[in-house]
Amino acid sequence: MQTQVPFTISAIKSLDITRLGTFQECLRAPVHRWFKYPAGFSYRLVEMLINEFRLRQSHWILDPFVGSGTVSVVAKQKDVNSIGMEAHPFVHWVARVKCFWEFDIKRLHCKLGELLTYVSCPSSAELQQQDLTEFPELLHKCFSEQNLQKLKFIRESIKSFDLLPEERDLFLLALVDTLRTATKAGAGWPYIAPSKYHEKQERDAIVVFSETANMFYHDLVGIHNKWRPVQVTCDLLLHDARQPYPLNEASVDLVITSPPYLNNYDYADRTRLELYFLGWAKTWQDIIRQIREKLITSSTTQVRRFESNEEPLSNELRELATSVYKELKTKITQLSYIRHSKNGRKSYDLMVAGYFNDMLQVLKQVYRVLKPKAPFVLVLGDSAPYGVHIPTDIYLGEIAVSLGFQRYTIQTLRKRGEKWRSNSQRHQVPLKEVLIVLNK
Ligand SMILES: C[S@@+](CC[C@H](N)C(=O)[O-])C[C@H]1O[C@@H](n2cnc3c(N)ncnc32)[C@H](O)[C@@H]1O
Repeated sequence: MQTQVPFTISAIKSLDITRLGTFQECLRAPVHRWFKYPAGFSYRLVEMLINEFRLRQSHWILDPFVGSGTVSVVAKQKDVNSIGMEAHPFVHWVARVKCFWEFDIKRLHCKLGELLTYVSCPSSAELQQQDLTEFPELLHKCFSEQNLQKLKFIRESIKSFDLLPEERDLFLLALVDTLRTATKAGAGWPYIAPSKYHEKQERDAIVVFSETANMFYHDLVGIHNKWRPVQVTCDLLLHDARQPYPLNEASVDLVITSPPYLNNYDYADRTRLELYFLGWAKTWQDIIRQIREKLITSSTTQVRRFESNEEPLSNELRELATSVYKELKTKITQLSYIRHSKNGRKSYDLMVAGYFNDMLQVLKQVYRVLKPKAPFVLVLGDSAPYGVHIPTDIYLGEIAVSLGFQRYTIQTLRKRGEKWRSNSQRHQVPLKEVLIVLNK
């Protein structure tokens, strides 16, 4: 494996790069902050790459794992065409709402005022009328009865108010973003922990909603002051990144993405609070069926174990990237061995195999739609399930080269997993987050 060469993007040298792979900078940035998605990366990374590659109105950017839409928001701000794909319906909806700015701002101001006046002081009869039995237990554990009544009252008011569909979605997103701020549960990511131990001070849902909706409105006013609508496309598709892309061959100038890391993070599970509150899912089975099955394999909860002797890595991977295949096979055998010694608890072996089988399909799709010589930039972390190091960056780089990409370069952004160091149950393998640049 020798195709790795030194990193070349010039702008990155002058920046603080430790936060580029994280959502931290988005938490204060207009529009990006409308939903706190910890799986997201920094908007500054996208700005930097658009500048570096001098993209303009005639160019196209693709993000096949667009998440909450960071790439699409920046592309739209900078007048570059973009296509974002996301397979999680709720996260896709968040991205769509964040990318619609073509409001009549005066009308929006009036509607927001009317809505906030209406929801500000519900009578106790109005609150009592809210039937809370529709909500699964999680919601009852996260909010007091009165706060949950208020949340439902606001949700129903948004639904019944005379609003345009985009206005309704905007206010609903403000309400969804209210949930984790208002709750008494430890609702930070990745875990929602409605236990006494993590409990915090509950905040009044109406007050938090009002602050959040006003913040959204002011962000939009800021955009309208600076941004002028131009004829650029900002498409957001509910699409599985492993499936054929509805794009022409050699049509994309830059791909920026951050695929799920191989770190056992279950995206379907982590959005339970929002899905249940919106009524998009009623049971855990709904979440598995509607969401988990559509996502690439990156957690053991997605793996179904059939006792067969079938080789977990695909034949396609074996034929295409033999050396990566061999290394992976050794590590997968090691993981399977450790699994048996731990009472068969975590199927990390199948998770790792599934991940690379899936990512091969993604790399093939991206290769097809990229223009010759165009760059494909990935933000990615490596992993060490059961302490077995899986250098995802090198493996994906090598697989890409075997597909026809000319070369790959890797730049470390930061070390990861430091906060778990003191946990004796956890492995001590140093992990990192990197930027991989592939050139077609
Ligand atoms: C690391 S996050 C990307 C976050 C994004 N960069 C942002 O700033 O919000 C990876 C995303 O990939 C999505 N995903 C997982 N499997 C997918 C698939 N098969 N097709 C498309 N998206 C998928 C997940 O739901 C998740 O939102």
